[in-house]
Amino acid sequence: MMLRILLHNTLKTVCEIDTYFHSHVYLTARQLALSSQYFCTKSTSHSSAMDLSDMRKKYKGAEECFEEDQLVSLDPIKQFGDWFDQATKCREIGEPNAMCLATSTKDGRPSARMVLLKGYSDQGFRFFTNYESRKGGELESNPHACLCFYWEPINRQIRIEGKVKRIPYQSSCDYFHSRPKSSQIGAVVSRQSTPVPDRNCLRQKNTELEEKYKDTDVPMPEYWGGYIIIPNLIEFWQGQTNRLHDRIVFKRPETGESVLEEHQHPAEAGWVYQRLSP
Ligand SMILES: Cc1cc2nc3c(=O)[nH]c(=O)nc-3n(C[C@H](O)[C@H](O)[C@H](O)COP(=O)(O)O)c2cc1C
Repeated sequence: MMLRILLHNTLKTVCEIDTYFHSHVYLTARQLALSSQYFCTKSTSHSSAMDLSDMRKKYKGAEECFEEDQLVSLDPIKQFGDWFDQATKCREIGEPNAMCLATSTKDGRPSARMVLLKGYSDQGFRFFTNYESRKGGELESNPHACLCFYWEPINRQIRIEGKVKRIPYQSSCDYFHSRPKSSQIGAVVSRQSTPVPDRNCLRQKNTELEEKYKDTDVPMPEYWGGYIIIPNLIEFWQGQTNRLHDRIVFKRPETGESVLEEHQHPAEAGWVYQRLSP
């Protein structure tokens, strides 16, 4: 215990001196080596602590802040399109359409996971999944959901909240059959989120189905399809190195809610917007 405290204090001092001299934004190799040696023991049978308090990345400089006059449109779907296009053009972003989807049980217990955005329009944002999965079950009993994109190289985050509904069966079918056959079979093999004895049983089922559908189309399972999230809130966030991040949030007031809140401005297509403190 004493040794651990001593090592912790030594590491802290080393970090502070290093930060002072070099103003590094990442842990240096030496810090990482030390922290992995003393703070990140791999074995789960040993207690371990990982001090990440110095892990800090530089975002954008003050001259690159995101002001209201830089919005390409006061329609947040168009603004989303602009940022999404920029993310797709950024070579360092491997999957710009990867987003975190948060759902919740009826009694408010949240869960989150990544899914892929497969289309967006004025109507909303769509993704595909297994309706009987954990997320599917939660969405059926509580249709409120949240999406979150984070594009690290351009220091941008977009948060989308709204109500979710299933897309028409035919649209799901069209998308299902546009996927590679191996993915279609994968969707049939996997009763997503249910326990299986081992990987081998999935492998076996996959082989059987490959044989079965060798010369025919794979029928879309009835438990598979798309959802669309119809947004009532879209927030654009851009990170600033001094932590005075930019946050511009659009809300779509419910019908009947016509009074603007403090610092709220009318936008387009039934939306209003305001800036939030970071
Ligand atoms: C980058 C990425 C993209 C993913 N895309 C999807 C997707 O589009 N649909 C899906 O059902 N699962 C997708 N997954 C898997 C989910 O994260 C999750 O493991 C799975 O849907 C089961 O989630 P659930 O048990 O909470 O329902 C993706 C995972 C990653 C890491």
